Amino acid sequence: MIDDIAGHSRRNLFRIGAGALLAGALPRIAAAQGADKVKIGVIGSGKIGGTIGGLWVKAGHPVLFSSRHPEELKSLTDGLGPLAKAGTVEDALAFGEVIFLAVPYKAVPQIAKDYGPKFAGKIVLDADNATVNRDGEELVKETKEKGIGLTTASYFPGAHVVRAFNSMGVSYFQKEAHRTGEAMAIPIAGDDKHAVEVATLLVKDAGFEAVAVPLARAQEFAQGGPIYGQQLTAKELRAKFGLMQ
Ligand SMILES: NC(=O)c1ccc[n+]([C@@H]2O[C@H](COP(=O)([O-])OP(=O)(O)OC[C@H]3O[C@@H](n4cnc5c(N)ncnc54)[C@H](OP(=O)(O)O)[C@@H]3O)[C@@H](O)[C@H]2O)c1
Repeated sequence: MIDDIAGHSRRNLFRIGAGALLAGALPRIAAAQGADKVKIGVIGSGKIGGTIGGLWVKAGHPVLFSSRHPEELKSLTDGLGPLAKAGTVEDALAFGEVIFLAVPYKAVPQIAKDYGPKFAGKIVLDADNATVNRDGEELVKETKEKGIGLTTASYFPGAHVVRAFNSMGVSYFQKEAHRTGEAMAIPIAGDDKHAVEVATLLVKDAGFEAVAVPLARAQEFAQGGPIYGQQLTAKELRAKFGLMQ
């Protein structure tokens, strides 16, 4: 349940999400007030976790990067400064109001088995793609049958899953974050209104613009889907999704 998040933080997140979204100036309000930062736990601090987590640190969010070997994250966290910490997966789950999941998809069932109850009430941003070679035929079949967003949600009952940052290679995220002109759009998919608002804030703070659809539509921008790998502006992406402009 979202209400399990510490009341103070939840209120802040809700206020930024609902109020500032309407104002269209969500991250600027957060930055200008120096408050309302979101505590983020990253599970899987490799290429995607390290890159997107690093963009959030630069936007002022405290981030705990986790690894099964946290001592190996020293150069990442040292390079990002005091808002970046390293720890275990358990530490990330204790720390984060939002969990960013950036692991090979085959690790999802294992992480759910080991830590499942600790995900309850969290907003979980899921960037994981499922590929046969790496993750196995059975799991990929499951993601295709159920849709990858609903598959992730089925492993973490009680969590508010939002698919995000899965549809482009890491080099695009590195190159296009905070670009001049129109922002690069990031497709996101989720069913919980507040979680989608928070994800929208975090996409913007990372330097992009979110376009949201329900969780069941995550397959459209999963690997092999029509929107996967497409570099688009928000207007173009809304049109691809058939959303009103
Ligand atoms: N790279 C890209 O361009 C890209 C773009 C979009 C989406 N993705 C997706 O994002 C996910 C991560 O990709 P990546 O390229 O960042 O991979 P990566 O560089 O190999 O990093 C993955 C991290 O996952 C962690 N991990 C693996 N198994 C784990 C387990 N059982 N429990 C906890 N942590 C585990 C590893 O951390 P430790 O070994 O340190 O514990 C590793 O650092 C994948 O699903 C990928 O398909 C990747």
